[in-house]
Amino acid sequence: MDFVMDYKKIILITGGAGFIGSHVVRKMINKYPEYLIVNLDKLTYAGNLNNLKDVENKSNYKFENIDINNEDAIQILFEKYLFDGVIHLAAESHVDRSISNPSEFITTNVIGTLNLLNACRKNWKSFENKCFYHISTDEVYGSLGETGFFYETTSYDPRSPYSASKASSDHLVRAYGHTYSLPIKISNCSNNYGSHQFPEKLIPLIINNIQNKKPLPIYGKGENVRDWLWVEDHANAIDLIFQKGRFGETYNIGGHNEWKNIDLVNLLCDIMDNRLSNPKGESRKLITYVKDRAGHDLRYAIDASKIQKELGFIPSVSFEEGLANTIDWYLNNKEWLDNVTSGSYQNYYHQNYN
Ligand code: NAD
Ligand code: TYD
Repeated sequence: MDFVMDYKKIILITGGAGFIGSHVVRKMINKYPEYLIVNLDKLTYAGNLNNLKDVENKSNYKFENIDINNEDAIQILFEKYLFDGVIHLAAESHVDRSISNPSEFITTNVIGTLNLLNACRKNWKSFENKCFYHISTDEVYGSLGETGFFYETTSYDPRSPYSASKASSDHLVRAYGHTYSLPIKISNCSNNYGSHQFPEKLIPLIINNIQNKKPLPIYGKGENVRDWLWVEDHANAIDLIFQKGRFGETYNIGGHNEWKNIDLVNLLCDIMDNRLSNPKGESRKLITYVKDRAGHDLRYAIDASKIQKELGFIPSVSFEEGLANTIDWYLNNKEWLDNVTSGSYQNYYHQNYN
């Protein structure tokens, strides 16, 4: 294709219509007008092209509706564009769904990743100036007790079908780096929050349910701890690693921002009451303790000193600012929420939470 000659680099971003992927695609399109950004996405229940409405007409952007399990379609895509880099985010991403339907997680997260690795190996005549960057999760490290952190050197100990599938894909990416000298990078990030997150994950689910005066399900006793990072900071870190991270390396990304689920839900209730001019304490009345998630990991917490020291990464916003921004976005985008919560998600929600 002639037009691709006009660009300094052609970057494939997989899963770019999803939550984190859409932030990464937007950042890359706007920050690098000299790059062509190709967004590959199957558009599952979690992928939504509305997430990219503001950039969809930019000249340095192309969308390709492809399943990473379709090897033939991937081969045709790699022949169409001579990719310089791949930033791989496409995945099944929700732990609860992985408990009810593990197979899909293996197909997409493991086999899909393998297909992309094979496509790079086959189509990249030389690996010079190429990069396969795999986006992963801190959940591969398992579960922490009350103290301690996950380091890049922490042994893998995945405990849910989701984390096992991500661990498996991480291993494959490293194996391709080691065996075939494929130029790879991996990052493992803690829980993200922000705009455009599908409301099956804790923070948007709670915001959505408060708006609709529905019960706020807390698994178990609500004492599980997660380390929350604003999605735009994750996108900043991904950009840094893609541009400056060392090949063959792993970088942990986190916010040093640990919250017990129940404390976080109480905080969200209070901020929402304030925003909605509810009487004080109104939303907390919706909190409902439900059966614990099977195999529920107790605590995740990232030691992010490697990316801070090597690449100078620190989160740009406080949790207070990030949450305020996130809540404002959901309150101002009710139509987006109504849109994504109709259809297949509704069925899943009713089967699992009602
Ligand atoms: P998401 O579920 O919001 O988006 C996933 C995207 O991948 C969707 O657009 C979906 O349509 C697409 N997709 C799914 N299966 C596909 C397939 N077979 N072929 C092509 N596209 C497919 O997920 P997210 O929360 O944005 O997570 C993105 C990546 O970041 C995942 O790899 C996830 O493991 C990782 N991650 C997420 C978090 C988090 O807190 N959300 C934290 C650390 C790492
Ligand atoms: P989630 O957003 O699903 O992310 P992850 O499981 O990948 O960490 O869940 C965050 C935490 O919130 C986790 O400890 C499970 C808990 N949780 C609830 O208590 N209630 C809910 O309805 C959901 C979706 C999660």
